[in-house]
Amino acid sequence: MKPDPKNAARPQSFGKGMIEINEETLERPIEDEQTTTQGMAFAVKRAIESQSYNIPMLPEVAISLSEIANKPDVSIRDVEMAVTRDPSIAARIMSVANSAFYSRGTSSCSLRGAIVRLGLAEVRDVAFQLVAQTRIFRVPGYSERMRELLEASQAGGILSRQICQHLRYETDLAYLCGLLHDMGEAIILGIVGNQGELVKKGGAMPLHAVRALVEDYHARVGAHVCSRWGLPRVIVDALLHHHRPDQSTDTLQMATVVRVTDILLAHAGIGVEQRRTTAMGEPLFYRLNLSPLQVDSLLDLADSLKENRDAWLVTG
Ligand SMILES: [Fe+2]
Repeated sequence: MKPDPKNAARPQSFGKGMIEINEETLERPIEDEQTTTQGMAFAVKRAIESQSYNIPMLPEVAISLSEIANKPDVSIRDVEMAVTRDPSIAARIMSVANSAFYSRGTSSCSLRGAIVRLGLAEVRDVAFQLVAQTRIFRVPGYSERMRELLEASQAGGILSRQICQHLRYETDLAYLCGLLHDMGEAIILGIVGNQGELVKKGGAMPLHAVRALVEDYHARVGAHVCSRWGLPRVIVDALLHHHRPDQSTDTLQMATVVRVTDILLAHAGIGVEQRRTTAMGEPLFYRLNLSPLQVDSLLDLADSLKENRDAWLVTG
């Protein structure tokens, strides 16, 4: 039987998040780089690891909030001072606190009141939601994919938090893990879009041309950027291993939580092609000790997020 030339061209690591950047790749002429996954992977790796590469900027307020969220004795005044440095985040926090979900019919409140109403973890999560919306999932030439990724990130945050609540896990960082889990894809597309020699004339490189690169490399890139941001190790680990949770060494199992989140997103067709599943359909549900009833309620939640996106999706 003849070998399939398509498969023969693929590296053995295809789909396993293990693209090798070897010396042979480095020495290839630039024309080959334009058409090979390894060539693009090398360009992304070179860009990310170069001293001059500016990772997406994390606003000072988001850094402050993620730092003080880990401190045991934080005052409301500390949080208020951090938030007031960034009017756009302060405005978003006020808006969320005064939304129908949080206000529950009570009158509008001050910034301090909004912080008390939401709590520190939620204030930090709202800040990162704004960062994701305005700085990560915004890549010229890929607006439709960015819209899908933004939707999947916010739904992913909600689902990851709900999984942890079912499991009675510490939910403090669950939303951020779900929110950021595929940010590596947006960062790769941003880098590919900026690699002049890798962009075809007349517009951005089509998504299908970079699919293998994104599939193999987005987890590493997302984890790398979160690490550079100084986010907690559990988030870095969850992003790095969210397609291979068996490789995670973190005791909190957040990589598995995010993997299950991905399965739920696929079940509802949020951000990816729809792949329906059932409570009995995925061994990972049981690795997390989710009961069939809990899985059914998570599948229903994913479907309702898909059907009622106007109720939760923040795009403005
Ligand atoms: Fe992913």
